[in-house]
Amino acid sequence: MAAEGDLVRVYDAIHYPYLAHAESHPDRLAVIARLHGIAAAPVANARVLDIGCAGGGNLASMSMSLPNADLLGIDISAAQIEEGRAAITAAGIKNVTLQTLDFIEAGKSLKKFDYVIAHGVFSWVSRDAQDELFSLISRCLSPNGVAYVSYNTRPGCQELMAIRDATLYEIRAIDDPKERIARARDYLAWLGESLPDGGARGRRFIDELARMQASDDQTLLHDQLAPFNSPIHVNKLVARAARYGLWYLCDAQPPLSADHSLTPEAQIARARYSKELVEAEQHFDILANTRLRRSLFCHRGSPLTRDVDPKLVDDMFVSFLGHPVPAENGAALDPTDASTITFRTAQANLETNRPPMKAALLHLVSVAPRAISFAELLAAVRDVLGQSFDADADAAEIRQGLVDAFLSTVGTVTLRTLPTPCVSEAGEHPMTTTWARQVARFSTRIPNVDHHMVNVDSVVQGLLPLLDGTRDRATLEAELAAKVERGEIVVLMPDGKRGKPAPGAMDRALRGLARSSLLIA
Ligand SMILES: C[S@@+](CC[C@H](N)C(=O)[O-])C[C@H]1O[C@@H](n2cnc3c(N)ncnc32)[C@H](O)[C@@H]1O
Repeated sequence: MAAEGDLVRVYDAIHYPYLAHAESHPDRLAVIARLHGIAAAPVANARVLDIGCAGGGNLASMSMSLPNADLLGIDISAAQIEEGRAAITAAGIKNVTLQTLDFIEAGKSLKKFDYVIAHGVFSWVSRDAQDELFSLISRCLSPNGVAYVSYNTRPGCQELMAIRDATLYEIRAIDDPKERIARARDYLAWLGESLPDGGARGRRFIDELARMQASDDQTLLHDQLAPFNSPIHVNKLVARAARYGLWYLCDAQPPLSADHSLTPEAQIARARYSKELVEAEQHFDILANTRLRRSLFCHRGSPLTRDVDPKLVDDMFVSFLGHPVPAENGAALDPTDASTITFRTAQANLETNRPPMKAALLHLVSVAPRAISFAELLAAVRDVLGQSFDADADAAEIRQGLVDAFLSTVGTVTLRTLPTPCVSEAGEHPMTTTWARQVARFSTRIPNVDHHMVNVDSVVQGLLPLLDGTRDRATLEAELAAKVERGEIVVLMPDGKRGKPAPGAMDRALRGLARSSLLIA
């Protein structure tokens, strides 16, 4: 039986990576809460608590877009807090405080927070600690506050649990965390070789095995093979939160929950359980085999509405990361006619033949990844549609289209209460954030301004620390070449031999960084 003491020892020995979790960003929580009738606190100077923050990576990344917010992270692992403090100080971040604190004992010492986040904590602590977590959230959440809790769900984690049980049995006698990882990897490889097509366990088993094998050491140790790992049905989770006066708002990643999602599974679940929101969520999880949820909660009695008022978009900022599919005949895409334009995004395709929506999305593509105000977007659409622009009807159509797109597939269209500080193109003296520069010193997974993690290659990793806004392109090229010369960066050619950055590589890298929301100048 795992104990809380084991958990601290394991985290102290091998630290969790510095991750940014886009769905937990207070701005996203604020937009979702406001669309549901809750007057969530202004985000710019919000008080934010991250429970189980590890080294504070989520908060440090958040501070890049919220430099005036008051960001507190607590974690039971002193070694992670200490390392995190050093990294945050080195990045010159002033508004993140990290504290070594067991959340079970934190109640009285903490004040109220507008946004409370517990990512990757609930399913990975004991049942008693889970109740303490909800108790703490309830006590320190301000009246219009929004809480975010992620957790492993049933039935999607069934295969994970089967492989986890078998692997934990295999490594039961090993104490050292590094040896546990090594032996677990051997065992997973053996399982894969023994069941190449899944055998009696089926395809899902193989897919889960592949996912575990591809995990980095920290994820394998702290998530899949953690001392605790207990998936839960969403209806049970919501009932447990309710005991502490917390109401289920919706999920922070709508495509992965029934509320608002346009997936067939969500529509089927909603049709059958149209009057019972949580039942619909539960049956959606069964149909969609959901693995992880990121659920949002507010206080019981909050003025929660399920009827979203699209007019709220008027006070928001919008960004869109899709790309229009070019016409087959190569003709220019025309927002003013009745043709359909398909926009590809990482999540789903968005198709429309409506001129106002086409003009709006094409304009957002042209300024991406920047977020612009709804008023600016409407003015751009008016310019494109000219005489045919109908101020009331077209504005209403665009509002509704944006809300539907945001709530059904976050990431396709993003609504914000604040613009992001990123730029669409690199300036004369390109600059990334101080936190991206810091993380690039030891990782190729970099948090961007939108609070997403971006994978970069070793050349871009070497370039990022130079992007502090003091160097022009010629200087950047010379310093990067010097790093390659000194062997600090290895450029591998297609034949596997070492080489030099190709001509134009700097421009391409900077364009890629701008597209990935990694440049602020
Ligand atoms: C899987 S990590 C998640 C880290 C971070 N929230 C993230 O998602 O990037 C879980 C964290 O919760 C912390 N934790 C577990 N039990 C805790 C407790 N009782 N009090 C405070 N922190 C705790 C662990 O030390 C660990 O850093």
